Amino acid sequence: MTIAHSLSRLGTETAFEVLARAKALEAQGRDMIHLQIGEPDFDTPSHVVEAGCKALRDGYTHYCPAPGIPALREAAADYLSRTRSITVDPGRVLIAPGAKPFLFFGVLATCNPGDEVIYPNPGFPIYESVIRWAGATPVALPLLESNGFAFRVEDLAERLTPKTKLVILNSPANPTGGVVPREVNVEVAKLLADHDCYILTDEVYSEMVYDGEHDSIASHGDLLDRTILLEGFSKTFAMTGWRLGYAAMPPELVEPVTRLFINCHSCTPPAYQMAGVAALTGPMDEVRAMIEEFRARRTLVVDGLNALPGVSCIEPKGAFYAFPNISETGLSARDLQNQLLEDAGVAMLAGTAFGEHGEGYMRVSYANSPANITAALGKMRELLERVPV
Ligand SMILES: Cc1ncc(COP(=O)(O)O)c(C=O)c1O
Repeated sequence: MTIAHSLSRLGTETAFEVLARAKALEAQGRDMIHLQIGEPDFDTPSHVVEAGCKALRDGYTHYCPAPGIPALREAAADYLSRTRSITVDPGRVLIAPGAKPFLFFGVLATCNPGDEVIYPNPGFPIYESVIRWAGATPVALPLLESNGFAFRVEDLAERLTPKTKLVILNSPANPTGGVVPREVNVEVAKLLADHDCYILTDEVYSEMVYDGEHDSIASHGDLLDRTILLEGFSKTFAMTGWRLGYAAMPPELVEPVTRLFINCHSCTPPAYQMAGVAALTGPMDEVRAMIEEFRARRTLVVDGLNALPGVSCIEPKGAFYAFPNISETGLSARDLQNQLLEDAGVAMLAGTAFGEHGEGYMRVSYANSPANITAALGKMRELLERVPV
């Protein structure tokens, strides 16, 4: 028997493979420090957990409307309107089990074979995977260290063609921690005003900006009507396992994407949606405390990495990742990933897990305790001091 040919076009997320290998080594009795993780090591705020439990007890245990329950669509529309200084109608907001489904369904709903999709590279690996799955052509927009891991408007302009159907943007970014500055967004909005394409702006790390305020491309110009503005609960509210995300959609995509939902997951668990309402409308003090802790760890990680032989690291402006340059170690990113995992007991991801422009870099997640981060940096030092440069 053979599996479908189309699956050869579907990629994956190396993070899950590295996690599996790290767990296998742990099962053999090896110590492992996990810096490969893309999720906050904090608990979901207690009032959110309580709202989810209450909803279960109150009978939110059945199917619900496929686009999402009205209370959450309204809360999400209000949050997006407030935080982006725009007006989002709740009728445009869809709720899904995570932000990820919007990447999958957003690309499927907009792209035909032969269309071009511009996407950040290094970037979240699912972008390139779903572009290929849709039969569209991925066009990498390089995010360079020399540019603070943002992109230059000229680089975007050069890649726009009459075939460009969708432009995917991500700020703050995974894996680099880069943030697109407001002045760049202003220019991007002007550039895209003249191009007939959709925009998918992935802003799941929007609350994790360390210098200044988050800026959304959707806040500039007149792009909202062709923008999928993507947000989630996984990162901001430490809710990765709840599987809950939302997006404001261009009006004509609301029905087709809902139809994709109906064909796939039917609806998003309503009790979890009630927890989402509590998250978006309740106190933010636990979230703020988590972000302050990330800010302190950022300094620990960046200073520690810069003190390692052959490693240099610019300060990430957002999310909870550092993206150190390891090219002076003489090792490829993949080799360093493997040696750290197998020999040093430190799990972190090669930059190439996020695309070809990630060669020469590693992604270090600082969603781990300061003690573990310090121990991991020590193990990295021991390994790098053994590597002949
Ligand atoms: C940039 C980016 N977008 C989307 C997602 C998916 O988030 P969710 O857990 O809400 O599906 C992630 C998760 O790592 C991410 O890093």
